[in-house]
Formats: sequence, structure tokens, C-alpha cells
Amino acid sequence: MKQPQNMNATATLKSSYTCTHSGLNDWVNQLKSLYQPDEVYWCDGSKQEYDQMCDMLVDKGTFIRLKKRPNSFACFSDPSDVARVEDRTYICSNTKEDAGPTNNWVDPDEMKATLQKLMAGCMKGRTMYVIPYCMGPLGSPISQIGVEITDSEYVVVNMHIMTRVGKKVVDLLGSNGEFVKCVHTVGAPLAAGQADVKWPCNPTVKYIVHYPEERSIVSYGSGYGGNALLGKKCFALRIASVMARDEGWLAEHMLILGVQNPEGEKTYVAAAFPSACGKTNFAMLIPPKELNGWKITTVGDDIAWIKPGKDGKLYAINPEAGYFGVAPGTNVKSNPNAMKTVESNTIFTNVGVTPDGDVWWEGMTKEVPKDIIDWHGKNWDPASGKPVAHPNARFTAPASQNPVLDPDWENPNGVLIGAIIFGGRRSTTIPLVYQAHNWNFGVYLAATMGSEMTAAAFGELGKVRRDPFAMLPFCGYHMGDYFNHWLQFGRNIPNPPRIFGVNWFRKDESGNFLWPGFGDNMRVLKWIVEKIKGKSNAVEGPIGWMPHYSDLDWTGLSFSVQQFDEIMSIEREQWKTELLSHAELFERMYDRLPKEFIFMRELLLSSLWRSPKKWSLEPERIDN
Ligand code: OXD
Ligand code: MN
Repeated sequence: MKQPQNMNATATLKSSYTCTHSGLNDWVNQLKSLYQPDEVYWCDGSKQEYDQMCDMLVDKGTFIRLKKRPNSFACFSDPSDVARVEDRTYICSNTKEDAGPTNNWVDPDEMKATLQKLMAGCMKGRTMYVIPYCMGPLGSPISQIGVEITDSEYVVVNMHIMTRVGKKVVDLLGSNGEFVKCVHTVGAPLAAGQADVKWPCNPTVKYIVHYPEERSIVSYGSGYGGNALLGKKCFALRIASVMARDEGWLAEHMLILGVQNPEGEKTYVAAAFPSACGKTNFAMLIPPKELNGWKITTVGDDIAWIKPGKDGKLYAINPEAGYFGVAPGTNVKSNPNAMKTVESNTIFTNVGVTPDGDVWWEGMTKEVPKDIIDWHGKNWDPASGKPVAHPNARFTAPASQNPVLDPDWENPNGVLIGAIIFGGRRSTTIPLVYQAHNWNFGVYLAATMGSEMTAAAFGELGKVRRDPFAMLPFCGYHMGDYFNHWLQFGRNIPNPPRIFGVNWFRKDESGNFLWPGFGDNMRVLKWIVEKIKGKSNAVEGPIGWMPHYSDLDWTGLSFSVQQFDEIMSIEREQWKTELLSHAELFERMYDRLPKEFIFMRELLLSSLWRSPKKWSLEPERIDN
């Protein structure tokens, strides 16, 4: 594919405003003298700025303009820089104990010394961009401000989509407003006259560092996703979780969706799933047509900030403004709304590019388009056995393009949360849906949720990886303290939302999925929102409240009582193993584990002990 290439395309941008925040100005000047960029540019957040920077990226050969999608681009990262680097991610709290057993920790002074050495002159030959940004709607009492310093144009344009960027944020900061300091460099300075590469990064040295007490972030060496777009995982989860603990709110790895019934009543639900469990699909779900009048709307697909209102109820915002979604597997059947969202104004990273200027990834269509360019930027060889798109290929798209975006998604007061859902990927043991006995049992279920590993990168395939609250890589402090925070949070509010567990991934003995998933997940959501309103029934089982077959709406789906019994059964032997492995998780964080958990585990064990070997909801209705 022929692309105009001018690897040394220099910034022709001139800052259009002067900042009057002396703390921010001093910090920027200090960084300028440490990192020695050629230029400093303050991002104003305008469309003109975005377009100009995309043009610069096209000139450099980083971006390929896509003929088939208006104002959209594709790019390929360096093969060493394709995902978040959890083993290079650090929580440098003052003490190791505060980071806890699930985070990497280095003494903050030692880390600062290492980074200072590494980063001296790290922006030579590049422009240092100052990106003032707001997480959440501007002016919302739940929103927070950050300033990201970066030497990557790719980061600037992605931040434009993912957050609210520019002069309006500086205005909001005034002369002394508080902000989270975020520093990012690709760690690839250029010597005088040295040509740049299309995807600058440091292929061998990467650090993603958080100083929770200082509320600051330093990221070195990667240009990719959550490593580099510091508003997302670094700020909105790791740093915000610490702020939330200190200030009495919740910063969670949760989508937020609205469930509207045929009478037009809406209930908002927050839901946590580990990475790679179809969160974006769930957030944009289209109900089966037979469930007439039910509708799903999206508030957010990845992160929720939840605060108690004056009325003691919980209100949530999505701090992001766009979606950084996984492309492979997304298609007109699995997620038609995502496909519409990415029709224009979208940046695609590590997908395939067709000769006629469109994108393609595995799962988009059955056939691979002819003469496609793969994510290495080379002609794809069908005999290679390698995928066209990287499995973690992404789209960055504005939330405003989502056809089912909730009208209140930017409501500064947030949306009222009626229920909280936790789900993992489990082929056995965990039923399709159940409601925790109460808040504390809900916290227990979330703390012990897990996913079977689908990528060898995380360990043994099929083994359950415990991922408490789907926050394992994202909690900025000791996980035991985080559990305590959740318990205390529930005690402080008069009538906390009900908590539910779901599992879309249970399989039969031959390894086939038992549940159709996707749009049919609406049937489970319908039961949940009716249950919290007292409009649907449940029976109390050993692990919580569960619907009978007749409590779910089966219109338009052939799913038998037997199948339901299979997907809802609680098998004593499997649960004994499950509870044993909870004990393993608890031992890791014993020093700060809520004592309640020990008793709750005992209670679960004794209630399972009293249940039949295979506890079934429908024993009298199964005739075999
Ligand atoms: C994400 C993740 O990219 O959770 O959202 O890994
Ligand atoms: Mn996520």
C-alpha cells in the first residue's frame, strides 16, 4: 500500500492560548527542561487540532487514511507494543503493604531515581504535548481533571476521542484547581537528523508507574492503549480507586447500561466483567425482537465512578467519552451497534487494511478479503496460519456515535444505579444468574469472581484466574483494603442496590456453550430489573436467590426446563473445590482480609453441605 511518508514531519502547531495556572505552568516548564523536547504545544481540543494532527500522522506514515470510512485511520503498532504490560505496571505507594500482594511495588524514591535517569532528554527531537483533560462531563461534581504530558501524536488524537480535552479544561482549572499529573513518553528520543519510525516506542524498557499518595502517573516506553492513554486504566481506575477509598465513593471497572421496559421505565445497571468477557457487546445489547418494547441504552462500556447522592442512593457517571474496544469478534451479529459506532471518525489500531481502504479483523465476516494487509503492515499470507488482525486490535470511537447512547450519559449528576452485576467466564460451577443474599454476600461473590484463561499469556489455559471485582490489574491499593472499603460503603448507605452474579459461559459435558448469550442476555437482565422492583420471583438456594424457569421470559427462544436446570444447577463437589480455592485467594491477602469473609465462606459451605449433591431448581419438573 502506497502511503505518503515524511518520517520527520514536524509540528506546525502553535499553542492558541496561555495558561494562567502557575502550578501547571511551573510543572510543564520543569518537565521541559528534564525531557528537552524541541517544542511544547498546549492542546486546545479543537476539531482543527485533531484534523491537523491526524494529517501529521498520515504524513509520517503512521496513519493510513481509510477511503471507506469518513475521517478514519488505521495504524500498526510495533510488535513489542500491543497490549497493557501488567508485569511492568507498578503501584509505588509509600509502603509495600499499601500496594498489597496483587500489585508490583518499588519504593517511590527508588522508582523516581530510576525514572529520572531513564527519562533525561527522553523527548529530544519530538514535541511535548500538554493535554488538559476531564474525566467525566465538564462541571460534574463526580468528574476529575488530569493533565497528560506526552510526546506521542497518536496519544493526543486518541485522548481527543476518549476524554474531554483542551482549553475548556484549563478554564475550569482556573488559577489553582487540582489536577492529576500524568507523564507519558514513548521513550524514543531522536538524535539530530535521525528519521523517526512509524510507531516509536522503547521495545525493551517499559514502566507504567503510579504514585497513589501523590496522585500522579509516569508511563515510559509504550505508545499503546491503557499504557499510554493515561486517563483510562491509570487514572480512572488505579489512581481514582485510591481517591474513592479516601473520599467514600467507588471507581470501578464496570459498564453502565439503561434497561427500559415497554412502559418506558428505566433502570440503570452497573456490571463488572474481566477483560475479554464481551463487556462492550453487553453494554450495547439489542434485545431479541420477541421481547417487545424492551430497550437497552449505553452510559459506558468500561468504567464507572459511583457516588452516594444526598438521598443516600448511588449515582454513576462514565468518566470516558469514547470506546477503546477490542475489534476481533465484533460483527453485525455480535454487536451491530459497535459496527455502526465505528463507521466514521474512528482510529483502528492493529487491524487488517483492505486494498480499497477499509478495515477487517477476524470474526468481522466469514471470508478474509483478498489482498489484505495484516497488522504488521505486510501482505497477509493465508498459508501463514497467522491472524490478519492482532487479537488485541482496537477501535477508538466517539461514544456520541453509538446509536443506543443513553440520553443521560453526560448528565452531570450521574444516573441512579438500581442493580450491580458481576460476571466471569466459567464453564462449570457458576449458574447463569443468581442474586446475592445481601450486600455483604454480594461483595464476597465479587471478591471471588474468576475467569477461565483463554489466552496462554495469563497462565495455564482453562485454569481459573481469580479477578476480584474485575479489578485485579486496576486496583491502586491493597485488595484486602478494597474489599473492606466495599463492605463499609454498603454499611453507610441505607438501601444499597441488589447485587447479582451472572455467567454466560457455562458449557455442557461435550464442551458446547449452554447459553446463546448476546441479545438473549436481555432475558436475564429483564429478570434482574423486575426482581429489584419486586415484580419477579425467586427461590432461595444455597448461594443466593435464583429464578425458576417460569420466572424468565422465553418468548422466541427454545430453551427447555432441562437446559435451564443444567445451566442453573449447583453441584456440591464443584462448589467444595470452588470454596477451597477462595481460601487460597484469601490466604494471599490475609493481613487485610475482612474477617466477614471467613464467616461467609463458612456459611456458604454449611448451606451447600445441607443441599443435595446436585441442587436443582426444578426437580419436580424434570421427568427423566
Ligand atoms: C480493557 C481491559 O482494555 O479491561 O478495557 O483490558
Ligand atoms: Mn476494561
